[in-house]
Amino acid sequence: MSTHELPELLSGYAGEEGDLIPLLQAVQREYGFISEEAVGTIAPFLKISENQIYGVASFYSQFRFTPPGRHAIKVCLGTACHVRGGQILAEAVSRELDVAPGEATADGRFDLQRVACLGCCALAPVIQIDDDIYSRMTVIRLKEILAKYE
Ligand code: FES
Repeated sequence: MSTHELPELLSGYAGEEGDLIPLLQAVQREYGFISEEAVGTIAPFLKISENQIYGVASFYSQFRFTPPGRHAIKVCLGTACHVRGGQILAEAVSRELDVAPGEATADGRFDLQRVACLGCCALAPVIQIDDDIYSRMTVIRLKEILAKYE
């Protein structure tokens, strides 16, 4: 779907202020993020200001305003992973890729997220890259693993 199809997406909504969150969720589902263009189209449709949209959307961590990277890295910071070095791992990924959680690398290669649990606590600490799970992760293995993803 291209952003030119945004008006088509809007046609499923009544144009009321209460549509804001469902609409933002739909835009993010379709495009992977909420672009300036999308905000500029939604604002007049709901008869609210762009600032109001940013204000509401930035309150919810689920919304992002920058395009996602090509590969999604999820570093688990759930209890099991945390006690086995998840935080150190998360910091190492940030350092290695020069990226903050919730953002994409400058080259668009990776996207970093911190998550609460990946559902495989016995294998802690765990990171996931796209659909691949890396268990009992160490900072030493990190470089080698990241190099597999172009
Ligand atoms: S706490 Fe990390 S996988 Fe469950």
